[in-house]
Amino acid sequence: MIPDKAPKEDVFHGSEDMKKSAHVPSFEKYKELYLKSIENPGEFWGDIAKDFFWKTKHTGRVFDYNFDVTKGEIFIKCMEGASTNICYNLLDYNIHERNLGDKVAFYWEGNEPGDELTVTYRELLRRVCQFANVLKSQGVKKGDRVSIYMPMVIELVVAMLGCARIGAVHSIVFAGFSAESLCERIMDSQCSLLITADGFYRGDKLINLKLLADEALRKCRDKGFPLEKCIMLKHLSKEEETSVGSQSPPAKRPCPDLQVPWNPEVDLCWHSLLREASDECEPEWCESEDPLFILYTSGSTGKPKGVLHTISGYMLYTATTFKMVFDHQPDDIYWCTADIGWITGHSYITYGPLASGATSVLFEGLPTYPDVGRMWEIVDKYRVTKFYTAPTAIRLLTKYGNEPVQKYKRESLKVLGTVGEPINPEAWQWYYSVVGDSRCPIVDTYWQTETGGHVLTPLPAATPLKPGSSTFPFFGVVPAILNESGEELEGPSEGYLVFKQPWPGLMRTVYGNHQRFETTYFKKFPGYYITGDGCRRDKDGYYWITGRIDDMLNVSGHLLSTAEVESALVEHESVAEAAVVGRPHPIKGESLYCFVTLNEGVTYNHTLEAELKKQVREKIGAIATPDYIQNAPGLPKTRSGKIMRRVLRKIACDEQELGDISTLADSSVVEQLFQNRCCTGV
Ligand code: WTA
Repeated sequence: MIPDKAPKEDVFHGSEDMKKSAHVPSFEKYKELYLKSIENPGEFWGDIAKDFFWKTKHTGRVFDYNFDVTKGEIFIKCMEGASTNICYNLLDYNIHERNLGDKVAFYWEGNEPGDELTVTYRELLRRVCQFANVLKSQGVKKGDRVSIYMPMVIELVVAMLGCARIGAVHSIVFAGFSAESLCERIMDSQCSLLITADGFYRGDKLINLKLLADEALRKCRDKGFPLEKCIMLKHLSKEEETSVGSQSPPAKRPCPDLQVPWNPEVDLCWHSLLREASDECEPEWCESEDPLFILYTSGSTGKPKGVLHTISGYMLYTATTFKMVFDHQPDDIYWCTADIGWITGHSYITYGPLASGATSVLFEGLPTYPDVGRMWEIVDKYRVTKFYTAPTAIRLLTKYGNEPVQKYKRESLKVLGTVGEPINPEAWQWYYSVVGDSRCPIVDTYWQTETGGHVLTPLPAATPLKPGSSTFPFFGVVPAILNESGEELEGPSEGYLVFKQPWPGLMRTVYGNHQRFETTYFKKFPGYYITGDGCRRDKDGYYWITGRIDDMLNVSGHLLSTAEVESALVEHESVAEAAVVGRPHPIKGESLYCFVTLNEGVTYNHTLEAELKKQVREKIGAIATPDYIQNAPGLPKTRSGKIMRRVLRKIACDEQELGDISTLADSSVVEQLFQNRCCTGV
C-alpha cells in the first residue's frame, strides 16, 4: 500500500517553484487522487473523458473488465459504445476548441545539424488530412492494417495519424529492424499497404531503407503473401520542386550511395499522390474499442507478439500520463528522444503530447553525432523544458565526462525522465547533478509496450525520489508482488511484479491470437496481469524493478527474446544448438552472450563467427547482434535435457560460484565451457 506520508530521508524532492502550478502538487494530493482512481475507476476516468470529444456518448460502463481466466475470457473495455476519432481529438479539437492552430506541434531536427523544420497544429492537420485522402484513394478502409517502416521524420507522424483518421490500424516497424522482421510483421498482421522512405542517415551511416523494404516484400511474395502497394517518401532523394510546403527540407549531405529501386507495379510516390489529394478529410467515427494500432514486441517463444491497443482507453491513458508525469504546462517544450518505432515514441511523441496540445522536438539523429554534445545543443536551441530519454543513452554519455554537457546552458530544463530499463544509481546521479544541475526531478517511468503508458512512476512535484526506483503506481494501477506460489507478499518483499486490475491503456489482445494473450499474461497467476519483471518493495513502499524474470533480455532498453536469437543462430547450417544469455554491459545494460554447439565436422573460426553475427543481424536487426559467441561442444543440461541457463549466465560472467548443480547430467561440460570462455578478462 502507498504510505500516508512520504519518507523524509535518502530522498530527492521536487522544486518548490514547480509545486505552485503543478497538476499534482503534493504527495498527499497524489494519494487522494490515487485512492479515488482505484476505488472508483469509472468516475475517475469518466471525469477525464469530459476533456475529450465524443461524437456519441458511451452506452456501456466507463470501465468494464474480466481479469480472471478462471471466470471466462479476459476482456477490458473503456467508454464502450462511444464513438470518437483520436486524430480529431489530437488536432481538430485542439485547434478549434483550444485555439492551438498556430501553436508549434513539432520542431523537427534532422540528423545533420541545421536541417530543421517547424510544423504547427494547423499545418499538421492539413498534411494528415491530405495523407488520409491518399490512403483512401488507395482503397484503404476502416479496420485495414497498414505497415509503416520509416525514419524519424514528420511524415511518420503524418502517416500514423492519417491511418487513425480513417480508422485504419497502423503497424509501425522500427526502421532498425531487418527485412525478415518486417516481412514477418507484415504477414502476421495481414497488411494491405506498406509506407516507407528511400533512405536515411543514422549519424554517418546511410541506411538504404527502400532496398530493405523491397526485400521484405519479396520475402512476403515468396511466402504466398503478395503485398502490392508500397508508398515511398523521398526523404533523401527529394527533388526541389516537390519540397515546397508539404515535406521536410532536403537533407544537406549528398548521398551518392543511395539506392532507390522502383517497381512501377507496386511502388507509389508519396509526393505525387499528395499533389492530387484534397487537404480536407472528414474523420471516420470509430467505436471506443476499435483497434488503433498493432505494435510487435518480443515474445518468449521467439515469435513476436502483435500487441493491440484500442482507441479510447489508449487516448485517455497516454494523455493523462503525459500531462501528469511530465507535469505538462502550456509553454513547455518537450523532447522525447525515443524512436516512434517503439512504444515510447507512439505514446510519448505522438499520442500523449498531441492530445495535450504540447510542443515537441522530433529528432532524427543520434546523441553522439556529429559530437557528444548534440543533445544539449538541441536542448539549448529549442529551450527544452521536459526531457525524456533512456538509461543506455545516459550511460553512453557519462563516458565522455561533464565537459560536453557543461558547454551548454541547459537552464530551460525542468523535468528529466527515463524509460526502458532500470537506471543504475550512478547514472541517475550523473543525470540529476550534471545534466539537470541538481535542479530537475527525474521521473523514472516503468512501463511496457503492453501497458500503453507509464504504470509505476514518480510525479515530479509530488513524489520524493529514490535513485533507481520507479517509486509508486500511476492512477488506476494496482501493483502486487507475488511469490512463486502466487501468494501476495506484504510489506518489504521481492518477487513477481503483477497488476491486480486493468487501467484504460492496457493492451486488449495479441493480434489474431487472444489465447496467446491469456496464456502469456494471465495464466500463471489467475486474477493478475503478469509483467514478466522481478520487483522489490522497500520499507517505504517504493517499487524497484530488478529486471526480467522470463527468457527476455533488455539490450539498450529494447527487449529481445533469447529464443528468437537462438532460432536465428540454429538456422545457420553449421549450428546444431544454441543458447543465449545476458551478460551485464556498462552501456547497453545487457549484452548478448551466445553459446553455439556446432554440427559434426565443423570447426569454429572467425569467419564462422562473423557469419553467425551477420545471420542474426539479417534475421532480426542490428540491435540483436551478438556481442560474444562461444563455441560450446556441450551445453549444461539437466537429465531431462533442459538447458540450465542459470549456469550459462555464470559462465558468461566468469562467476565460478555456481550454486546447486546436482541436477546436471554431465558436469564436465561446465569446466570445459569455463576454459573456453570467449572473452577471458572481460
Ligand atoms: C523494462 C518500454 C526498469 C522492463 C516502455 C519492461 C524498465 C520492459 C523501465 C518493457 C524502468 C521499462 N525501470 N525497467 N523505468 N521501463 N523497463 O515493451 O523490463 O519495450 O518489462 O516498453 O522494459 O519494454 P518495452
